[in-house]
Amino acid sequence: MFETVTPPEPDKIIRLMGMFAADLREGKVDLGVGVYRSPAGTTPVMAAVKQAEQRIWTAQESKSYVGLHGDLAFLDAMRRLILGESASPGQVAAAGTPGGTGAVRQVLETVHRLNPEATVWISDPTWPNHPAIIDHLGQKRQSYRYYEPATGGIDRAGMMADLAVAVRGDLILLHGCCHNPTGADLTLADWQEIAAICARTGAIPFVDMAYQGFGAGLEEDAAGVRHLAACLPEVLIAASCSKNFGLYRERVGVVLIVTEGKAAAEGVLAGMNRQNFAFPPDHGARVVQEILDDPALRAEWRDELAGMQTMMAGHRRALAQALCDATGSDRFGFLAAHQGMFSLIGATPEQVETLRAEHGIYLVGDGRMNVAGLTNDTIPRVAQAIAQVLA
Ligand code: LMR
Repeated sequence: MFETVTPPEPDKIIRLMGMFAADLREGKVDLGVGVYRSPAGTTPVMAAVKQAEQRIWTAQESKSYVGLHGDLAFLDAMRRLILGESASPGQVAAAGTPGGTGAVRQVLETVHRLNPEATVWISDPTWPNHPAIIDHLGQKRQSYRYYEPATGGIDRAGMMADLAVAVRGDLILLHGCCHNPTGADLTLADWQEIAAICARTGAIPFVDMAYQGFGAGLEEDAAGVRHLAACLPEVLIAASCSKNFGLYRERVGVVLIVTEGKAAAEGVLAGMNRQNFAFPPDHGARVVQEILDDPALRAEWRDELAGMQTMMAGHRRALAQALCDATGSDRFGFLAAHQGMFSLIGATPEQVETLRAEHGIYLVGDGRMNVAGLTNDTIPRVAQAIAQVLA
């Protein structure tokens, strides 16, 4: 069956991971895949996670199946973390998934089954797996204007004009915070405008929430999705615990659907899980639930997360300053204004390749930088290399 098959090309992020791993040079700098790194350059297990794992290891007496939706206490804790008081429990259907990607896939496949004619509107640019999954399912997609390279900000007028032509049942895919790859985030006023467009057109917002807590803070980062949930009849959410709990390889994700048809939505999600993987992974979800439902662990986790966020914001400021010094201009000032792990530095694919080949600095081909991959030691060198290559 496979003799004549040409396997699909890995996407640009996955390809870069392979190239970085194969590079034997000392001092190479990984600013590619979205993984947080401590000042020591490692991705440690968070302290609250370690403690929660220890408790689970001691108390857990069975690894038997939990249920098609996964652990209900985990789902409820995630509902509260993401939606706060914006929607009542009776309005939210939820299901666990293998990671945030699993959640995105389950939402898109659900829409594909229920409304195969819907167009999914994605930001230009977006995370490569969004269009990849949409295309794999055979759903229609269109891009809406989003990033304005000249300013490093958002093309608000263009975005709202594009979204205004969405029709009833279309999906508007939004990044809840820390836009991937641009780092340019919507303001609350933008979310309010999007909500008004959805109310007028009948388009349904689909929020991908992969970085809650990495932007302005746990509550602040959820303000947009909460606004949508408070004022629209239906909101679809895919959330990940990979980054904010550092649980990357455990694959912890959740689908939340704000709807008046909770029971039906839960049934659809259960069926979708059953057919795709049956039961969602439990260990990471239990860890998250243990942390969120225990005041002491939760406080410890919040502090560590806030520390990560502060470090990324500090790297942004330090890199912007170093670039200002190296170029004598404020051309890269937008780096300090962006949020989360990523920014587009405005490099061409050739410049990205030069940074990799000549300086051992790895960025994604579209010029996306993961600022969490920087350290105080590497910032001066990275700034010099960018200033030189992008001169
Ligand atoms: C990224 O964008 O680098 C991360 O979300 C990892 C991934 O799965 O692409």
